[in-house]
Amino acid sequence: MADQAYHAMLHQKRLQNIVISGESGSGKTESAKLLLQQLVYLGRAPNRNLEAKILQVNPIMEAFGNAETGMNENSSRFGKYLDVTFTRAGKVTGAKIDVYLLEESRVHHQARGERNFHIFYYLLDGSANTDLQKELNLNKHGYNYLRGALTDNADLKAVHKEMFQAVKNGFCLLGFRLEEINAIYRILSAILHLGEIEFDEVKDEDSCHVHDPESLEMVADLLGITAGDLGLALTTRSVVASGESFVRRHTAEEAYTTRDSLARGLYNRLFRWVVNQVNALLGVSRQAYGDPLSIGLLDIFGFETYKTNSLEQLRINITNEQLQFFFNQHVFTWEQQEYMAEGIEIDIIRFSDNRPILELCLGKPLGILSLLDEESRFPRATDWTFLEKLNSNFANNKLYVRSRSSADTTFSVRHYAGRVQYDVKGFLDKNRSYFSPDLVEILRGSSIDTIRYLYRCMVTKTGHLHVPSLVDGNKKARQI
Ligand SMILES: Nc1ncnc2c1ncn2[C@@H]1O[C@H](COP(=O)(O)OP(=O)(O)OP(=O)(O)O)[C@@H](O)[C@H]1O
Ligand SMILES: [Mg+2]
Repeated sequence: MADQAYHAMLHQKRLQNIVISGESGSGKTESAKLLLQQLVYLGRAPNRNLEAKILQVNPIMEAFGNAETGMNENSSRFGKYLDVTFTRAGKVTGAKIDVYLLEESRVHHQARGERNFHIFYYLLDGSANTDLQKELNLNKHGYNYLRGALTDNADLKAVHKEMFQAVKNGFCLLGFRLEEINAIYRILSAILHLGEIEFDEVKDEDSCHVHDPESLEMVADLLGITAGDLGLALTTRSVVASGESFVRRHTAEEAYTTRDSLARGLYNRLFRWVVNQVNALLGVSRQAYGDPLSIGLLDIFGFETYKTNSLEQLRINITNEQLQFFFNQHVFTWEQQEYMAEGIEIDIIRFSDNRPILELCLGKPLGILSLLDEESRFPRATDWTFLEKLNSNFANNKLYVRSRSSADTTFSVRHYAGRVQYDVKGFLDKNRSYFSPDLVEILRGSSIDTIRYLYRCMVTKTGHLHVPSLVDGNKKARQI
């Protein structure tokens, strides 16, 4: 496959794409790795260092974006598009990654039997009994965000240690500076300590206070901000009404939601920033040679159906529906049109067109996701009101199946790959992804360069960090 794409690109001078699909655990990521190795081998440049650098992309992206799920021990929890660029003579000049839909809620919550992103375990076992462990205060035997106690399995710990070293070597080889690598560790560690912060409800006051100043201080120290500012931003929020600004206290429940949003937001920005840095560092030689030709490798998360499916599964499955639609177009519609245009007699193949499912999920303004966005904007809306909205809007849609029991919080969609039941509990919170402006303001004033930079970058609608030019962005990060 890699050879075919490479030769087509080289001889026809046309950009190529390899799209890998299949359900979770079917081997997409493993195939993408083999394809990348082969492409880099075919386009071997005199600069062998570049080849080694490109091959570091996968271990780093997997450490930060993959996790153990019920279907795959190394499941991709994001979509990855890796574009390998070549000169006209077919020599590799670099690579660019684009990432989609990171499953950020995994940072603070994992289903039973599942794990957080690999990098947290690598960091914990990789730093064990070192100065780094002391510096990051990572000496507990378990963390709330990792579903409690850590493994005692010596073999697994040894694998984590090895992977931690591999990721660190990857960063170094790509050209990340030591301060940058340390900032990454600090953010990861801050996230783990953040999950340890508990709040006590203040009776009859609808407010709360931080139970354990120790964890709060650790998080603040790691993020280069003050514990006072952080505590205030977790337990209160500034509200502007009728032109006046005042402070509203959080209930303990609101404080926990703010804490988890901060953890999610920190991880998401860190992930995007790592991608930006990798792209900038792998783009240097592309600037010298230009990148007239390229081969893209698309490796996304596979179709998922569990006992309980949430918004993450819905998003993943909709992405797979889109991919299926693309395949249908390519394999059936366009191919048949080409045959007919050339006057070749063919038996028209009937295929199941999944456009109506895409319409049900993505239609505007009346698709499931549009209705979710609409409902998320109403402060008083709940997961229940959202479900009622779906049930009434899709009462006559055969692809939408409402639950028979009115006490049930589920609905089902008849996807191309089969019927999947989704539970709406938590849909609104996940979709709102509320990140307090007070927290952003505090992090913009961090004493740590990388963290300050992360929060000064704009985030686009699709969640990408907006850096005007990748290389400039890299320069900027270095200047601050
Ligand atoms: N070519 C291969 N050789 C050996 N083992 C393989 C190969 N492909 C897949 N596997 C095994 O299957 C597991 C799952 O593969 P992989 O992670 O590539 O699945 P995936 O399709 O990317 O799944 P997801 O959608 O969850 O990301 C691997 O960890 C490995 O154990
Ligand atoms: Mg995968």
